[in-house]
Amino acid sequence: MAQSRLGSALDTGVEYRVFVDREWYHRERRLLWEGPVWVALALEAECPPGRSYSTFFGDRPAWVEQDGSGGWTARLADGRPLKVTAFQGVLFASGSANPPALAEYLGPRTMRYLERIFSRPIEVLGHHHQAIDANWKLYAENVRDQYHAGLLHRFYQVFGINRVSQRGEVYLDGPGWHHVLAVWRGDEDPTDRAAVEREHNYRGAGAWQLSDASLLAVETEFDDGVTQQIQTVFPNLVVQQIGNTLAIRRIVPQGPQAMDLWWTYFGYRDDSLSLRRKRLLQANLIGPGGLVSMEDAEAVECVQRAIASDPRGRSIMAMGGREVADSPHRFTETAVRGFWRGYQELMQIQAPPATRGA
Ligand SMILES: [Fe+2]
Repeated sequence: MAQSRLGSALDTGVEYRVFVDREWYHRERRLLWEGPVWVALALEAECPPGRSYSTFFGDRPAWVEQDGSGGWTARLADGRPLKVTAFQGVLFASGSANPPALAEYLGPRTMRYLERIFSRPIEVLGHHHQAIDANWKLYAENVRDQYHAGLLHRFYQVFGINRVSQRGEVYLDGPGWHHVLAVWRGDEDPTDRAAVEREHNYRGAGAWQLSDASLLAVETEFDDGVTQQIQTVFPNLVVQQIGNTLAIRRIVPQGPQAMDLWWTYFGYRDDSLSLRRKRLLQANLIGPGGLVSMEDAEAVECVQRAIASDPRGRSIMAMGGREVADSPHRFTETAVRGFWRGYQELMQIQAPPATRGA
């Protein structure tokens, strides 16, 4: 059957057609988005009492609201109800008749890192959203690809926010399709750091300085020393702590070759004024300032254009091996492979042995 060949052999490679094919996109709607998954809808803090909050479930408009007894209800635009469960103030919905228990779906590590960020009452600081001309799965790969930040985001490298010479670890969960990247900015190998700086000097970047360095003044607020946490929950949630910028990002597909990324920034209700100012200032760096998130969008759009020009091609994701396992460093595509493992299972793709491996 032609359709079942789409996306075959996903252990180390993906057929490009899964990023462009319209029929496949509709199959995803049914098997993945309405399958036994929990889709992040919103933060409880975004939903004012007594009012419906407008959001998306996959690519479909949905509404969520608090019911009279303190629980939550959600429905699609056609009125069909969704199951809703909250964890640490994040609202997840499922369209499946028989979804797994949320705790079982998330796994212990995912829960632990969500608890780390949502450790006390939060306050929403603002929103923005980004239209990206690429398939949603390319963005899902981007946030799970842990080495690109040190290559793509020059601001990160030059000013030491995130460099490959800093300690970074990758943890997988549930079973492999969610991930956490933790980076310790203060834990940087001096030899590696010197090599990274030589590379910047070679490219003429060594003399760059900021007229106003306040953007780099990160206040330590977590006692584990982690300065950057990027966490995903399959299929659509990204949770970030980058310096003092706390946010969730929700991936909303918009057809096979387009998506929107919805950002919600937040702080803690007990933030000091100076910490609150830092959160707002640093939000410019990652978001609308154009230095980080727009570079990610640009990168996935370049990939989408290349894929669309050769839909019979196939990707390879064997960096750092073929395992779906934790990694004590960032030079690996383990979390990308984990995403595709979950995807393959939900989309009921059989990987034919003859074409396994790259
Ligand atoms: Fe990035």
